[in-house]
Amino acid sequence: MEKLGRIEKIYNKFYYKIFIENFSGKLTYKFPNNYFRWDLIEYLIKKYNYQSYLEIGCDKNQLFSKINIMHKIGVDPVSGGNIRKTSDVFFKDNNEKFDLIFIDGLHIYNQVKKDILNSIKFLNDNGLILVHDCMPDNLGKQAVPRYKMQWNGDVWKAIVDLRQNENLEIFTCEMDQGIGIIQNKKNTSILKFTKPINELKFKDYYENYKEYLRVISLEELKKIF
Ligand SMILES: C[S@@+](CC[C@H](N)C(=O)[O-])C[C@H]1O[C@@H](n2cnc3c(N)ncnc32)[C@H](O)[C@@H]1O
Repeated sequence: MEKLGRIEKIYNKFYYKIFIENFSGKLTYKFPNNYFRWDLIEYLIKKYNYQSYLEIGCDKNQLFSKINIMHKIGVDPVSGGNIRKTSDVFFKDNNEKFDLIFIDGLHIYNQVKKDILNSIKFLNDNGLILVHDCMPDNLGKQAVPRYKMQWNGDVWKAIVDLRQNENLEIFTCEMDQGIGIIQNKKNTSILKFTKPINELKFKDYYENYKEYLRVISLEELKKIF
C-alpha cells in the first residue's frame, strides 16, 4: 500500500475540506462480518467453473494468495502478484482474456473507470468484473487527494458513471467495503443522471448511494449470480 507522509496528510485534509467539501455525515453499512472478497470469488469460480483470474492491485497478496484457480495473473507496480507493471501498461501489452477480473489498483475515479473499460476488452463471454472499495462510509475515506490511511478513494464515481452505460449491467454488493459486479451485457436499470461526475460530492453519495450504485445484499447477489 502506498505510503502517506504526515505533512502530506495534513495538507491534503485541509485542502480537501476548504476547497472541495466539508461534510460530516457517516453511513453505517450491513457488511457481513464472516464473508469476504475471497469467499465471493471462490463462490463465483465454483459456480461458473471459471479457469482464469486477473487481479489489478495486489499489495501483499492478501487476496491473490487465496485464489485457487487454474491460471492467475496479478498486476501491481510495487508489490505482490506476478506482473510488475501499472494496469495501463499491462493492458497495453496484454493479449489474453480472463473469466474473472478483480480491480483494486489505484482508487481514483478516472483510473478505475479506465481499468474497468480495459477489463471489458479482455473479459471472456460469461465473465465477470469485480471492483473493490465502492462503498466509503465517510468523507475522508473517499477524499482525493488522499489524507487517510484507511482509504476507498472515489471508486464509487466510476460505478455511478458507468451505471449510465446501456451496455454494462452493474450491481454493488453490500459486503467487504462494497464490491461492484459488472457484466458485459444490456443494462436493465440505466441510471439517469444530469450532473457531471466530477461535480459529485460525498453528500450526493450519502443521500443517494443505494440508487447510484444499485446496491444489493449478499443474499440477493446469490439469487442473481
Ligand atoms: C488496496 S491495495 C490492493 C489490495 C489487494 N487487492 C487485496 O484485496 O487485499 C492497492 C494496490 O494497488 C497498487 N497500485 C497502485 N497503482 C496501481 C496501478 N496504476 N496499477 C496497478 N496497481 C496499482 C498498489 O501498489 C497497491 O499494492
